Amino acid sequence: MLPILLFSVALDTVQGGISCYDDSGQPVDWFITYKLPKPHRSPVAEGMRYMYQDGRTQGWVQGRSLMNSTEGAVGRTLQQLYTEAARRQDETAYVLYNDEPPSKLLFSSKGHTKGVILLDRTQGFWMLHSTPHFPPSVEEKMYSWPHSGLPNGQTFLCITLPYSQFKEIGNQLLYTEPEVYDSSVEGTFAQDFPALLNASEGQHIQEQPWNSSVTLTTLGGKEFVSFAKFRAFDDDLYSGWLAPALASDLYVEFWLRSRGILPSNCSGHFRVYNMEELAFPDPSITFHTMVDHSKWCVGTESDPGWACVGDMNRNEAEEQRGGGALCCRDAAIWKAFRNLVKKYTDCDDVRYH
Ligand SMILES: *[C@@H]1O[C@H](CO)[C@@H](O)[C@H](O)[C@H]1NC(C)=O
Ligand SMILES: *[C@@H]1O[C@H](CO)[C@@H](O)[C@H](O)[C@H]1NC(C)=O
Ligand SMILES: *[C@@H]1O[C@H](CO)[C@@H](O)[C@H](O)[C@H]1NC(C)=O
Ligand SMILES: *[C@@H]1O[C@H](CO)[C@@H](O)[C@H](O)[C@H]1NC(C)=O
Repeated sequence: MLPILLFSVALDTVQGGISCYDDSGQPVDWFITYKLPKPHRSPVAEGMRYMYQDGRTQGWVQGRSLMNSTEGAVGRTLQQLYTEAARRQDETAYVLYNDEPPSKLLFSSKGHTKGVILLDRTQGFWMLHSTPHFPPSVEEKMYSWPHSGLPNGQTFLCITLPYSQFKEIGNQLLYTEPEVYDSSVEGTFAQDFPALLNASEGQHIQEQPWNSSVTLTTLGGKEFVSFAKFRAFDDDLYSGWLAPALASDLYVEFWLRSRGILPSNCSGHFRVYNMEELAFPDPSITFHTMVDHSKWCVGTESDPGWACVGDMNRNEAEEQRGGGALCCRDAAIWKAFRNLVKKYTDCDDVRYH
């Protein structure tokens, strides 16, 4: 009995459905990619380098490719939009959303949120990211990396999920209110996931509560907690919700070059610190938050703590925007992010770590 069972499990993974792909082209349960900022006056390729981690790497390793390539994790994963989704239209559903969509001079006032959902009849992926004008619509037929994506740091989190979990994701999108620039949720997908369809058509929740959290379980059995707030939540995601919900002080990395930045906040039971400088240990790369468009946070102490990758900056305007984060309590992920913290703003002054 056992060998047959093992065989069928192995077959499942080999046949694969829609999935996140790792940096060597194999299906993977989840990965996190950190696109590095382009050093001043360096060649174009330097603006497409990245660090990578998944369940096997035990922390950051150097990306094997460049962000514009379909051999790297992000490109290989999104390539399924231009091959599978384009070819098997009746058998796939997808939602591409971005408050700064590709080829549009639009700054949406809807959710401050960017991501890609793609699934077939058995499984799919959800990728959260921070990159404006990315990725191209399905009709563009080809993956590419935008020129505007070269200078700054960007984060990506991809999770592979069984079919049923997309019902929960659809519900979360009714809170975050994404600017959807390309989607296809038809036939049985529309029947099974009415919230995903509604969100892709611009609908949102109409009554309290204005926030929603749900635990998503990946195909490989790993738990990620999705936090989603609607614009009427009217508070900072981190100080107003994540820190108390995760019961942890947090270091938050976000785009400091936006208006109305909220200062580090020590007035609640759990503190929230704005980051100022990051350092990857190996290879040794240091950069300032001013050149990092990434959005993530990590618990300050306690191993394993929480780490989240998400949508939101800490500024006044985004208190009144939809958005959220995906969080995980995992020793390796926590350590990987915690080790990046080099300098943060304390509530009175700047602290070095
Ligand atoms: C990616 O960018 C590099 C550097 O500009 C370039 O040499 C390479 O041809 C590009 N690859 C693709 C697939 O566009
Ligand atoms: C989706 O929208 C339709 C039409 O507005 C509504 O009747 C239905 O209750 C909505 N379903 C969900 C799950 O949001
Ligand atoms: C919404 O956020 C508040 C904190 O502002 C929290 O106490 C509450 O539990 C959250 N609600 C849900 C449904 O998660
Ligand atoms: C700290 O955060 C809480 C929750 O977001 C907020 O209500 C409060 O005004 C903040 N305090 C300061 C000093 O910014």
